[in-house]
Amino acid sequence: MKLIPDPEKISVVIEKIRQLKKRIGFVPTMGALHSGHFSLINRARKENDIVVVSIFVNPTQFSKGEDFKEYPRRFKKDIGFCRRLGVDFVFLPDRNNMYPEGYSTFINVDNLSDCLCGVSRPGHFRGVATVVAKLLNIVHPDTLYLGQKDAQQAIIISRMVKDLNFPVKVKVLPTVRQGDGLALSSRNAYLNKQERSVALVLSKALRLAETLISNGQRNCGRIISRMKQLIERNKQAKIDYIAIVDPEQLKELKKIAPGCLIALAVKIGKVRLIDNTVIGCA
Ligand code: PAJ
Repeated sequence: MKLIPDPEKISVVIEKIRQLKKRIGFVPTMGALHSGHFSLINRARKENDIVVVSIFVNPTQFSKGEDFKEYPRRFKKDIGFCRRLGVDFVFLPDRNNMYPEGYSTFINVDNLSDCLCGVSRPGHFRGVATVVAKLLNIVHPDTLYLGQKDAQQAIIISRMVKDLNFPVKVKVLPTVRQGDGLALSSRNAYLNKQERSVALVLSKALRLAETLISNGQRNCGRIISRMKQLIERNKQAKIDYIAIVDPEQLKELKKIAPGCLIALAVKIGKVRLIDNTVIGCA
C-alpha cells in the first residue's frame, strides 16, 4: 500500500495504472474510519483491480462555527485499517495542495443543495461537490463508492456526475448500523454515554415510520408528526428537520410514494446526527 499526499503524483501513478486497463475503485472519506467506511472499501476491493481511499477533512464543507477543528483526526489508525483492508493507495492531501492560495472555483448543485441538511448547513454541499469533483479529477476512478447514510450527499454527487459528464459510475451502498440501530458516523465519537442512548431516537423514529407505512398509513404529515412525538419525548433531542421527499428532486411529498426518502437530522446535546430510510414499495 502506498501513501501519497501530492495530487499531481497520485494522478501520474494512477494514469500509468489506467493505461494497463486496470479497474480503479475510489472511496473518498474524511477519516476516523469505521465499519461504514469499511463496507465501501470492501466492496471496492471486490469489484476492482486497484482501490484508492482518500482521507481529507475538507475545510470548505464546514460552515463557520461547525466542528472543523474538532473533527476526529486519526490518520495513523486509519492508515492501518486501509492496509488491512487491502487498499492500494491512500491519498492524504493537505489543505494547501487542495486549496492553494488564490483558489477560486466552486461547484454548486442548484436546488438539491438548499433543502434538508442544506438549510442549517449553508455552503456545506458546495464544499462537498467541489472537493469530490477535484478528487474525481485527481484519481480518475472507474467507480465511486458512497454511503446511503449521507443520502442527500449521494444524490447531489450523482447529479453532479451526470450534469458535468464525469466518466465514473456511482455506487451507493447501504447504511451500516450498530446492533441497536444507531447508524455509524465519525461524529458518534462526540457522544457521551447518555447521549449515545438518546441518539437511538433517530433510527427508532425511522422504524416507526416504516411500521406506520406497512400498516397502511400514506399521509406524510401524519407520519412526520408521529416521528416528532417520539423524538420530543427526549429533552436532549432537538429536531433540525424531518422530511419525506422524492429521491431525485428532494421535493417534499404529501403522500408516500415508492422509493421515497425519509430523512431526519436531530441534535443530541451539541452533536448533530442524521439518518434516513428509503421506502421500497408503497
Ligand atoms: P465521511 O463522513 O468520512 O464519509 C465517507 C463515506 O462513507 C461517505 O460516502 C459516507 O456516506 C459513507 N458512510 C459514512 N457512514 C456510513 C455508514 N454508517 N454506512 C455506510 N456508509 C457510510 O462523507 C464524507 O466523508 C465527505 O463529505 C466526503 C464525501 C469524503 C467529501 O469530503
